[in-house]
Amino acid sequence: MPGAVRLKMRDVDLHSSSTGGEIEPAGFIFVGKEEDIKKSQRLTAKINGREIVVFYHKGKFHALDSRCYHEGGPLCQGEIEDIDGQACIVCPWHKFKITLETGEGLYEGINPLEPSPTPKWQSKGVKQRIHKITTDNGNVYVSPPDLSVNFDSDYFADKYKNGGELSMEKQSHSEDIE
Ligand code: FES
Repeated sequence: MPGAVRLKMRDVDLHSSSTGGEIEPAGFIFVGKEEDIKKSQRLTAKINGREIVVFYHKGKFHALDSRCYHEGGPLCQGEIEDIDGQACIVCPWHKFKITLETGEGLYEGINPLEPSPTPKWQSKGVKQRIHKITTDNGNVYVSPPDLSVNFDSDYFADKYKNGGELSMEKQSHSEDIE
């Protein structure tokens, strides 16, 4: 089992997103303090009931749907690996790899038509919804999703929305959760 994954959970709602006086960039929702996320490296938050996970990796913030597009595994509990030069979150359930930057699912495939086929990483396309993220004055903000475009992860985001609770506390890794 991978090392301890420390998580912080924050509930955010468009209609009650007051953060103590900070002015949020237009259309964005406050999810946490920059320094806190840099320290914990990851955090989950709910945007209008939809659970997202924010990662801080190699100097950059990334926000994705928290439930894996495959079968809804909790990406917030996965490890980050560099695959073919791309930072990927590895789902803890069946080890699917998803790029942090684009939400693409990666798989290793071979081209049998090549003279000496060797496995190469390839993309299945964008499977996991990525959320726009920005920082301002020490705060981190995420934009609500544009639901006019669909991604595979939407199914599980909806399934676990409001009341489904990612319930990280109920996962088997609960001892790792703060
Ligand atoms: S649920 Fe994520 S790999 Fe299966």
